[in-house]
Amino acid sequence: MVIFKQLHNFAAFLPISSSLKIFTSKHSLGEHLATLRNTAKTIGFVPTMGALHQGHLSLLAIAQEQTDVVVCSIFVNPTQFNDPKDLEKYPRPIESDIEKLKQAGCDILFNPGVSEMYAANEQWHLELGELENLLEGKFRPGHYQGVTQVVYKLFDIVQPDVAFFGQKDYQQFMVIKKMVDMLKLPVRLVMCPIMREPDGLAMSSRNIHLSPEERKHALVLSKALHWLAANFEPVKISLLIKHCKEMIENEPEVELEYFEAVEPETMHPVKNNSDDLVVLIAARVGHTRLIDNIILK
Ligand code: PAJ
Repeated sequence: MVIFKQLHNFAAFLPISSSLKIFTSKHSLGEHLATLRNTAKTIGFVPTMGALHQGHLSLLAIAQEQTDVVVCSIFVNPTQFNDPKDLEKYPRPIESDIEKLKQAGCDILFNPGVSEMYAANEQWHLELGELENLLEGKFRPGHYQGVTQVVYKLFDIVQPDVAFFGQKDYQQFMVIKKMVDMLKLPVRLVMCPIMREPDGLAMSSRNIHLSPEERKHALVLSKALHWLAANFEPVKISLLIKHCKEMIENEPEVELEYFEAVEPETMHPVKNNSDDLVVLIAARVGHTRLIDNIILK
């Protein structure tokens, strides 16, 4: 395992001659994956919306360590956007994404168009319970219906043994876990750590929308989380949260949506002092909405 890791790190610095296979049709992808499955290869899956950065690539690296064949999907899923402007301006640098996947030694890219994924007027509803209305759910109504709809379809097409998601979207992971448990889908989920810029900002495809000035103000999100972690004592959590909220609210250009400590499984706000918790933040910096979180034990 250690040797494999070293090899992988080595590969990250050297362009590897790549044999990335690109599919836009679910049928051809399905056929190709069936032949691989017949040779007992395990399939790892990293779903993305593209504009790939080191965060996405870290998921691929973990998938490469744990599975034989790695499939990455790039699909900007319209049903999970509640703001049409956000969907329109979502970055789509497909050529450079393909280059990054080749450099990373990814085996397969699935890059379908909208009509390949959706029939006209398709309906979807999954009972997600409270998870749907908390935190992100409250600020982005319908978002997790769109996420579960597309992830269900992608799982159905790729039929991965293991699927890799980032802790960066903690609530998304919990929602997908709930879907997998409820529908008894035969896939193992792995949560991968948050990749950050050297100054602490969580990597995100949306960071490119930040002006240099906003980029500086955006740092308050990770600063608040790390300050809280450094001062963490369960007894004082409400005081720590209060202090962090003030810190964020005093930062110019930053409009806080939520800053909450929740229980890791249910994501209920922590009322009784709990040893394990997740602190999550969402804020708008200028016109850009950013999220971040930290797991505390
Ligand atoms: P996207 O935002 O492109 O993210 C794809 C995956 O990369 C997610 O699992 C996300 O949590 C992970 N990720 C993003 N930034 C990260 C970072 N800084 N460090 C580590 N992992 C990071 O999440 C989506 O796409 C979509 O909702 C999707 C699941 C593909 C469904 O459309």
